[in-house]
Formats: sequence, structure tokens, C-alpha cells
Amino acid sequence: HESIEQTIERLGAVIPDYPKPGIVFRDLTPVFADGPALRRVVDALIAPFEGQFDFVAGVEARGFLLAAAAAYASGKGVITVRKPGKLPREVFSESYSMEYGDSTLELHRDDMPVGSRVLILDDVLATGGTLGAAARLIRKAGAEVAGFGVVLELGDLGGRDRLGDTPVTALIAY
Ligand code: PRP
Ligand code: HPA
Repeated sequence: HESIEQTIERLGAVIPDYPKPGIVFRDLTPVFADGPALRRVVDALIAPFEGQFDFVAGVEARGFLLAAAAAYASGKGVITVRKPGKLPREVFSESYSMEYGDSTLELHRDDMPVGSRVLILDDVLATGGTLGAAARLIRKAGAEVAGFGVVLELGDLGGRDRLGDTPVTALIAY
């Protein structure tokens, strides 16, 4: 029987010089396209946080896929952390840097009750800029970050160190 690391390794694609020269991009869309693999990945992301979260937040765009599946599987609601200008009501904003550019993320101010415990999911942890900004947004909204879950961690970019003491689950690390 194949381990989850082996499944991700077998299905994941590696693309040199995307989206910019010098970046080695790891593409998980083939993992998401495989039914049994998607189910195993989502189950493995929520298992360490069982009973510890009230909402699942996903970061646009690939994080949305995982967050919606995880929220459905655990009977919780899903929260969208979005690129700028996409959310129609009042938002909190946080800017950040990542491996291939700078960006901003936004969260509706009133998406969840103060004190809610939120599990934040994304496909890849690289520099940690994205998940760090997502966590700041959740905390600005008066909620608590229960943990971070990613499918793949690019360890040499030091992303985990940017996320403080909050637990991080990665299903595979390079
Ligand atoms: C990618 C990935 C993570 C982030 C990781 O998203 O899906 O969200 O980069 O990098 P970091 O740890 O250095 O911040 P991207 O911004 O390319 O957006 P997309 O999902 O909309 O393609
Ligand atoms: N793959 C997917 N998302 C990413 C990567 C990567 O290699 N690096 C930064 N975000």
C-alpha cells in the first residue's frame, strides 16, 4: 500500500522556471484530480486538528479546493481569504511577499463570530508569506488560528519559522 507521501510524489508535477526563471514549481493539481488521492489528502489535513476548529479557511485560489472539501468532511463552514477587490463587503487587508511577487489578501470583517477557532488550509507552504498574512487577517477579525495545514512544504524557504507557535501540518516536505 502506498503512503500519502508516495501518492503525492507519484502524482505531483515539477515545472522548472515557472512562473519565473529560477523557480522550480510544484503543481498539485494532478493530486486534486485523483479521487482517492484527494480524499486521503483532505482527511490527513483535518485529522491532527479534530475537535479543535469551528471553521476552515482557504486561501485563494488553490486553498479554496482543500478548504471546501475539509469543511464539508468535518461538518464546518468555509471561510474565503481572497486576493484584493474580490470581496463585496467591508474587509480587513494584509500585504505580504512570496517567492515570486508581492500581494495582498482580504477577509470579510464579519465572516465568523469573535473567538472562533479557524483551521487555515493551502496547497503549498513556501516562504510562509501567504499563510502568515491569512493568520493576521483571522486574528484581526478576533478569531483564533487553530492550525495550518498544507499538502506540500518547501522546507528550505523557512516558511514554518514565519508562522510562530501555531501548529503546522505538512503532508510532504522537500
Ligand atoms: C501559491 C500557493 C500558496 C503560496 C505559497 O499561491 O498556492 O498560496 O503561493 O507561497 P508563500 O508561502 O511563499 O506565500 P499563489 O499566490 O501562486 O496563488 P494561486 O493559488 O491563486 O495560484
Ligand atoms: N508550487 C505551488 N505554489 C507555490 C510554489 C510551488 O512550487 N512556490 C510558491 N508557491
